[in-house]
Amino acid sequence: MEHNKVAVIGAGLMGSGIAQACAQAGYEVVNIDTFESAIEKAKANIEKLFNKKVAKGSMTEEKKAEILGRLTYSGNFDDVKGAFLVVEAVPEKIEIKKDTFKKLDAAADPETILVSNTSGLSISEIASVTNRPDKVMGAHFFYPAPVMKLLELVRGLVTSDATYAVVKEFAAKIGKTTVDAPEYPGFLVNRILVPMQNEGAFMVMEGCKPEDVDNAMKLGCNHPMGPCELTDFVGIDVMLATMTGLYNGFHDSKYRPCPLLETMVKAGHLGKKSGQGFYKYDENGNKIQ
Ligand code: 3HC
Repeated sequence: MEHNKVAVIGAGLMGSGIAQACAQAGYEVVNIDTFESAIEKAKANIEKLFNKKVAKGSMTEEKKAEILGRLTYSGNFDDVKGAFLVVEAVPEKIEIKKDTFKKLDAAADPETILVSNTSGLSISEIASVTNRPDKVMGAHFFYPAPVMKLLELVRGLVTSDATYAVVKEFAAKIGKTTVDAPEYPGFLVNRILVPMQNEGAFMVMEGCKPEDVDNAMKLGCNHPMGPCELTDFVGIDVMLATMTGLYNGFHDSKYRPCPLLETMVKAGHLGKKSGQGFYKYDENGNKIQ
């Protein structure tokens, strides 16, 4: 099978960014989502992002057309046919992941490798619902996926060496540096990063201003974004799901999610994407306070 077509499942913030990274690297990409509204949003976002790059001079109109020409969208899982690799980036809930992998296993060619962009769920459990567990592994991208240089590679109990080698080669082609992460909740980065964001939320709950928490980490530790700003950027719901995964996975109270995050999610305050998180945002995603 030729290694030129990649399918990405899910057109949310992560899925659309992964699809963009693959198209930029020269792959033919189909980004699949069953929600038409997600596809429309993904198309509008990439158009806006590329227009900004063209205006700023970091991309030419020709390059923009070339990359967009390699990127198609679909609502049909059957369009994974012909892809040597499928990257799943659906919401971080084990039942949704398993249901997606069952469908992918039925729709994809038998030799196709299926990777999950889970940020901490068990790869072995996801692989167990397929008839090709040796061809399933984890490849965890970081937001924004086209920009962040790291890809965490996570092998399930029966992921084969051949699968790992193909995914490692794919990572190099899209310009990512890989690290091998253990198959435990949070893998490597999120196990360290997300408790820090959670602690930032606890400090806000205790009365600190988000600006102070963020400035402390930016100016005191040279972090590009503070914990509150980063939580808004990634999505409060995504961060809460990751923290809950650590808590449930390790059965350790040190990972208890901050109640303020739970309340914010219940209120629909999901961060930048919803216009309200620790900060408020206008329709272009710019902070307004
Ligand atoms: N999508 C795609 N590209 C984006 C982007 C986005 N959302 N935001 C910025 N970019 C691109 C811009 O187009 C620009 O590209 P260009 O140089 O070709 O024009 C480039 O990134 C730099 O953008 P800016 O100059 O506007 O912004 P900054 O220099 O301030 O960098 C940043 C922005 C890279 C996001 C930086 O603030 C940063 O590194 N922040 C921390 C991000 C981080 O920690 N990510 C990990 C999150 S945790 C995670 O993902 C785990 C998951 O499981 C939840």
